[in-house]
Amino acid sequence: MDLKTLIRNIPDFPKPGIMFRDITTLLNNAEGLRYTIDSLTEKCLELDLKPDHIVGMESRGFLFGVPLAYQLNVGFIPVRKPGKLPAAVHTIKYDLEYGTDKLEIHQDAVAAHHKVLIVDDLIATGGTAKATADLLQKIGCEVLGFAFIIELVDLKGRRQLPDLPIISLVQY
Ligand code: PRP
Ligand code: ADE
Repeated sequence: MDLKTLIRNIPDFPKPGIMFRDITTLLNNAEGLRYTIDSLTEKCLELDLKPDHIVGMESRGFLFGVPLAYQLNVGFIPVRKPGKLPAAVHTIKYDLEYGTDKLEIHQDAVAAHHKVLIVDDLIATGGTAKATADLLQKIGCEVLGFAFIIELVDLKGRRQLPDLPIISLVQY
């Protein structure tokens, strides 16, 4: 299946010059959704990735991280933007093109030495995935790899990431 036919391209969103890759049209398509989750699952099995948990980033990482966790029969841990998680959190600050941002994870969500796979819908600059990996490594987890539906290759996001398996289903 050609997933690109199910991903909608919206020029100049959210800013002029950005081609937004909209996965809502893929989620809306039953066959496309099943194919996407099955493909992620197969690639994890091929690479022999056996995480204890899937970690997904707010918000679109949740949409693919939870079904992948279900398929792999492991739990799901959300990484959220600041102020959203109700219990005690670990926080990481990271650089954006202009300024900084933060991501948070519940302190009791994962124990040191647990193996995790990081899942998001898309890798652009890699800043979000790198910050998530840094946060997990800081708390002593072993990051096994990364899985994305979409990779924006020109932005070279994978160069930001540690030398681990990186799954991406569609490249632009
Ligand atoms: C998007 C996307 C990734 C991130 C990728 O999320 O879902 O999480 O940007 O960009 P990067 O590789 O340059 O860090 P966004 O921050 O737009 O949040 P959303 O999922 O809540 O829409
Ligand atoms: N996140 C960062 N860049 C994006 C893009 N071009 N399309 C969708 N989500 C994004």
